[in-house]
Amino acid sequence: MHAFLNRRRLLALVMASAAILAAGVATSASAGNSRHWTHRPGPGGASITSQSWGTAPDGQAVNLYTLTNARGMTVTITNYGGIVQSIDVPDRKGQVANVALGFSNLAGYVTDDTTTTASGETYFGGIIGRYANRIANGSFKLNGVTYTLPQNNGTNTLHGGPDSWNMQVWTATPISGRQSVSLQLTYTDPAGKNGFPGTVAAKVDYTLTQDDALRIDYTATTSAPTVINLTNHTYFNLAGEGSGDVFGQDLMINADNYTPVNANLIPTGVIAPVAGTPLDFRTPKPIGQDINSGFGQLVLAHGFDHNWVLNRSGPGLSLAARAYDPVSGRVLTTWTTEPGVQFYSGNFLVGDLIGTSGGTYRQSDGFTLETQHYPDSPNEPSFPSTVLNPGTPFNSTTIYQFSTANQFPTANQFPTGP
Ligand code: GAL
Repeated sequence: MHAFLNRRRLLALVMASAAILAAGVATSASAGNSRHWTHRPGPGGASITSQSWGTAPDGQAVNLYTLTNARGMTVTITNYGGIVQSIDVPDRKGQVANVALGFSNLAGYVTDDTTTTASGETYFGGIIGRYANRIANGSFKLNGVTYTLPQNNGTNTLHGGPDSWNMQVWTATPISGRQSVSLQLTYTDPAGKNGFPGTVAAKVDYTLTQDDALRIDYTATTSAPTVINLTNHTYFNLAGEGSGDVFGQDLMINADNYTPVNANLIPTGVIAPVAGTPLDFRTPKPIGQDINSGFGQLVLAHGFDHNWVLNRSGPGLSLAARAYDPVSGRVLTTWTTEPGVQFYSGNFLVGDLIGTSGGTYRQSDGFTLETQHYPDSPNEPSFPSTVLNPGTPFNSTTIYQFSTANQFPTANQFPTGP
């Protein structure tokens, strides 16, 4: 047990004002935006608490939820956009750092979503829907009908368009079990919003497990045929957010192929081998090793910003990627049921945003591993389908598992069996 956990436990004993949800289902709030929450582990050591976190532009109250497991790993999530605001995990010496880029308060996220900054909208930590990634020319055809969407990324529709799922206030239900804690978030996306057909009822369960995994289960149903592609947009820096670039962090992506893009970052439709290109991460290598190689695809995207076609032997959870910081020893292993992962090396961060701990975020100060279907699938019939029909629920799971090691781990088995 490391010092951080002891401090949290001590705080739990001396502070009694905030809500404690040791078991069952409830909601609660405590005043203030302090980083020191009341925390008392339940019988199995896990807990979830909430505090008031301000008011969204639409007037709805927003909370920040703190999920803690028995080992002291802490994840904070706000029901504004379902944003993962922080992920506190120990390094190999037990020193805790927040490995998720973000902002210290709600205003930071609202500003990111609603104003034009040099870095563009970052989508830090948010739930991305109804269609993650790009749809070319803001248009797609489904069952013979052409749907027109607002273009918010050049001529593309990006991450569901403006005023999308990462900006909505979700209904939150904390669920505290003996071994794990969950935050269940629900949101109903009306038919016609941002041009998409069908009313979609979405549910996202964030679960912090006893073995330091943040598990995300997405489900959705629709009232009429539509397209769907859901992901989470957390930027990771395994040395801690605000600690500089991630170039020295090693990455493995379990993919033999990727989807090359055109100048608008729309896939050409070709499934191309990574072999012989800087996009070959089958053997772990530092993120910065080939990023400035001048390879055409990297020049177009200003770095890595591509969809890798994951190797998988069948349906279900399978290994997508693993990252390792040789300095801190922190490891992030990503498992998913999705066919692809967008690895984005934070190319558009230009130093104009002040992050959670007060530092500025510059290019490549974080990376995303956005598990998802391929970009622009609604316009590319050869890609796995993103059509969602009434009566057939959408289900998707991604697991971000944290651990520490002294070298890049080679074991590719899920620790507790998926
Ligand atoms: C990523 C996308 C990037 C960029 C970023 C947000 O998912 O692939 O091109 O738009 O989101 O700034």
